[in-house]
Amino acid sequence: MKSRKNKTSTTHKLDRRKFLAVSGAVCASGAVGILVPGAGAAVPHGLPPLPYPDNALEPVITARTISFHYGKHHKAYVDNLNRLAAGTEYAELPLERVVVATAGKPDKTAIFNNAAQVWNHTFYWQSLRANGGGEPPRALKERIEASFGSFEECKKKLSEAAVSQFGSGWAWLVLDGDKLGVVKSANAETPLTTRQKPLLTIDVWEHAYYLDYQNRRADYVNAVLDKLVNWEFALQNLSR
Ligand SMILES: [Fe+2]
Repeated sequence: MKSRKNKTSTTHKLDRRKFLAVSGAVCASGAVGILVPGAGAAVPHGLPPLPYPDNALEPVITARTISFHYGKHHKAYVDNLNRLAAGTEYAELPLERVVVATAGKPDKTAIFNNAAQVWNHTFYWQSLRANGGGEPPRALKERIEASFGSFEECKKKLSEAAVSQFGSGWAWLVLDGDKLGVVKSANAETPLTTRQKPLLTIDVWEHAYYLDYQNRRADYVNAVLDKLVNWEFALQNLSR
């Protein structure tokens, strides 16, 4: 048990260094101003490291779920994107530009789906943190109260969007004009292709929760909102 802990700690430190290095590169690229590691890089796209150890989100999200969700699903989107984009006009584009350039084009659906899912998942991992949840930073809370009336109403809207999304998809806190809002999207759809600026997201594909919660999506969503959601990350995105 002790050796497992030490190993995890070392891995976390290495990943954190890589994460910061990649984040810096993204900020310098100025793509769309969202803090997503790897989003500014051209192909071959890499699988950005998790910003925490794989067991950091327990007991809300177990390391077993992370091992499949991150290690299998997220990785598969990266591998599929690289395979599909090779030799095409999208081969040299940064990730965010691939997403925007292929959105709404029926003959580019496969590239869009995989590129958007790479971006959405990297954004999702950063939308969570160990010992998250609780109250947002004051600057964000004031914006939330101005837009929703109260922080509790914002959480309620996020929960309702996440639970009511039919089938696979995402719930998002977004900046829309000068107000915050909540939207949901199906499959790989992402606010990145709209005039809304994503601030944080909750993945409600079954692979995000089924090993831990089976069909109880609402339990997963509400546990994430209460204990894992990274309000500081949302504020960082709001400030960019
Ligand atoms: Fe997912």
